[in-house]
Amino acid sequence: MLEKLENEARNCKACGLCATRINTVFSDGSKNAKIMLIGEAPGADEDKQGKPFVGRAGKLLNEFLKQAGIDRHKDLYIANTLKCRPPENRKPTKEEKAACERFLKGQIEALKPSVIVLCGATAAESFFDKKFQITKIRGEIFDNVKGFEGIKFIPILHPSYLLRQHSTQEGSPRDLTLKDLIMIKKAAL
Ligand code: URA
Repeated sequence: MLEKLENEARNCKACGLCATRINTVFSDGSKNAKIMLIGEAPGADEDKQGKPFVGRAGKLLNEFLKQAGIDRHKDLYIANTLKCRPPENRKPTKEEKAACERFLKGQIEALKPSVIVLCGATAAESFFDKKFQITKIRGEIFDNVKGFEGIKFIPILHPSYLLRQHSTQEGSPRDLTLKDLIMIKKAAL
């Protein structure tokens, strides 16, 4: 099912991003993972390589995962809200998100993860109706997301944001993210 969906995404022309993409960026990691991580959209490096989180933000994410004892290749399945890069890395539009939704929902359905890590506000917006501040809801476990009962959704701060936050002091965004990831690993057991 995932392969079929990936093939469809590769040929997708449901929104204007197909005109500017180099590659569709479908997923990385393990199809047997219990943890699925969802980011925003591919950037320039991801568009070139066809894989999510391989640029600067991805490298920082890798460091955090390693420190938390999460193996990117075995413990995680990584995807994005959008499968194609928005020009200049602008935020995805409502229309683009709607056009791409069936791929993300299909990935969740096929993978059946026990935990979904919502990496940043854009990923969280796809699952929460209410307005929220990502800094307020990060690290919380939401197990009542409509249509996805039984899955624990846990928002975290996006590594692109952490690239601009250098402190590792207790309570800093980096410190909190590491603690969230350690908790996520336990939540998936
Ligand atoms: N940021 C994201 O949200 N996803 C990627 O794949 C890369 C950067």
